[in-house]
Amino acid sequence: MDKPLQLDDAARSILRQNCRGSYTVPTAKLYPFQWNWDSAFIACGLASFDIDRAWTELETLLAAQWRNGMVPHIVFHALDADYCPGPGTWGTEGVPASSGISQPPVASTIARGLYERDRKAGRKRMAAMFPKLLAWHRWFHVCRCESGAVAATHPWETGRDNAPDWDVALAEVDTSRIQPFKRSDLEHVEGDMRPTGLDYDRYMALVQFGREVGWDEEKIRSDGPFRVADPTLTFTLLRANRDLRAIAAEFCEPVAEIDHWIDCLEAGAATLWNPALGAYDSVDLRRGEASGSLSNASFLCWYAGINEPTMLGKLEEVLDKARFGVPSYAPDGAGFDSRRYWRGPVWAMMNMLIGIGLGEFGYAELARRIRNDVRLLILSGGFAEYFDPCDGAPAGGKNFSWTAAVWLAWATPTLKEGNDGIVTA
Ligand code: DGY
Repeated sequence: MDKPLQLDDAARSILRQNCRGSYTVPTAKLYPFQWNWDSAFIACGLASFDIDRAWTELETLLAAQWRNGMVPHIVFHALDADYCPGPGTWGTEGVPASSGISQPPVASTIARGLYERDRKAGRKRMAAMFPKLLAWHRWFHVCRCESGAVAATHPWETGRDNAPDWDVALAEVDTSRIQPFKRSDLEHVEGDMRPTGLDYDRYMALVQFGREVGWDEEKIRSDGPFRVADPTLTFTLLRANRDLRAIAAEFCEPVAEIDHWIDCLEAGAATLWNPALGAYDSVDLRRGEASGSLSNASFLCWYAGINEPTMLGKLEEVLDKARFGVPSYAPDGAGFDSRRYWRGPVWAMMNMLIGIGLGEFGYAELARRIRNDVRLLILSGGFAEYFDPCDGAPAGGKNFSWTAAVWLAWATPTLKEGNDGIVTA
């Protein structure tokens, strides 16, 4: 069997091995629960060989939705003491236990993709899921869009945990009262590929703050130590709103509210434009300052339906400086670190979203280049959590579900030409 076919098999095996019944862990040990946007990407990969299980992945995630509409970033379905911070530290209410923050909402986009793959089989499931997705998007708009763009209250909420974007905002977080904790991630991955100890102290201080105010969004908005408008959340929600609108129209549901959200987020995305950087950026809402970060999230604009020509030049510059794919941070940026998690490494699923957006706007050559880079990374390094953009070395956790899913849905050369594996709007 040739290598791509072997990898197709291996990717399916990883998704099966990481399956825990009705949900899938990102990878064993390092991440032993269900993660929000991981599950959305996993569903996209599962759809290539088990569409019923793909729906179940999203249904299990949405079953953990809070009464206020929030869908948590971690769902602690089963106890596992080998993870920090566990459910006790988050101190949230509800069953199953969960974290108190959300994550980039790619689920509606993936759900639309599942539905469009097989409308007849997916009709009932999509109809049942629609109100939950709508409530989640509404939660973002009511609780997080005061500046137009979507505000994150914790770096984990953006999915880009230790991106240089947050360095200045995090420096103000008071860590003097944090309770002792023991990191377990360092038992599974080398320290130079993970956030620093100082980063973790600040992450824990933010969790402690949320717990102390009972995860009350009003209090978090007025007093939370970290509030940064983020391009990942903003662009994924804008795209998700467009997909949710398509679902609403298909199911004869009202669309006016969603249309309003789309208008608001198009205006909100414009507030992320940093003229000094010549790119989309994150904005620290407490200080009213842009972070000056050109990241992989900056290039999600096309995925969100925004065709910004200046970003094409920026993308070409970044692709030329990094040897493999779109890195998580510009290689000439002061905070760049080729191995350290979100400060440089290439993430397959971010590259997939960027590539899909480019393809939808007809930038076929760039889309092909990015897909090809990710293909080469996986062909040579396997299903790593992320990859070094300078030498292509695999890094982080191994046997990673979303890298396997991205392979099956988008990167494998065994896919039929023109198949995006996700959804073409
Ligand atoms: C982790 O544990 O590193 C996660 O990214 C937090 O969600």
